[in-house]
Amino acid sequence: MNINFVCLGNTCRSPMAEFIMKNLVQQAGLADKISVSSSGTFADEFSHIHCGTCHELTKHEIPFDDNRVSKRFRRADYSKYDLIIGMDVGNIWDIKNIVGGDPDNKIFLMMSFCGENRDVDDPYYTDKYSVTYNDINRACKALLKKISQS
Ligand code: 4NP
Repeated sequence: MNINFVCLGNTCRSPMAEFIMKNLVQQAGLADKISVSSSGTFADEFSHIHCGTCHELTKHEIPFDDNRVSKRFRRADYSKYDLIIGMDVGNIWDIKNIVGGDPDNKIFLMMSFCGENRDVDDPYYTDKYSVTYNDINRACKALLKKISQS
């Protein structure tokens, strides 16, 4: 199972989701079965994780890679993943534009795993990294539960 979380810049929300999910997967003993990564529809491919996200991950004792740089979601990525999860409806729109649709029905909105049809707010603009953390943490736990049951 390959999961890719997607946001706009791949510096705030999707790296937060990547490292929260990796930690949950590790704790569940599923690291050899579930692979997790992240990308951004407009990622510049040289930016490091935003300090607000690093601070939040550190606060919750979640390990992350300090050296990783942002990665752009590209058309060829569609076939590499089983689940492509956008943080907001704009991301979903952009991913579908890049891919040219969603023929295999594998693009999902992050909060839909909690039964909520809404965006994960972008802390790049809101500066509310802990609010974003709570949303993403909840959605990752719901996602892992769903995967474990299937
Ligand atoms: P993200 O947040 O999509 O959650 O990574 C953003 C990061 C960078 C920019 C916008 C949003 N930016 O305009 O550089």
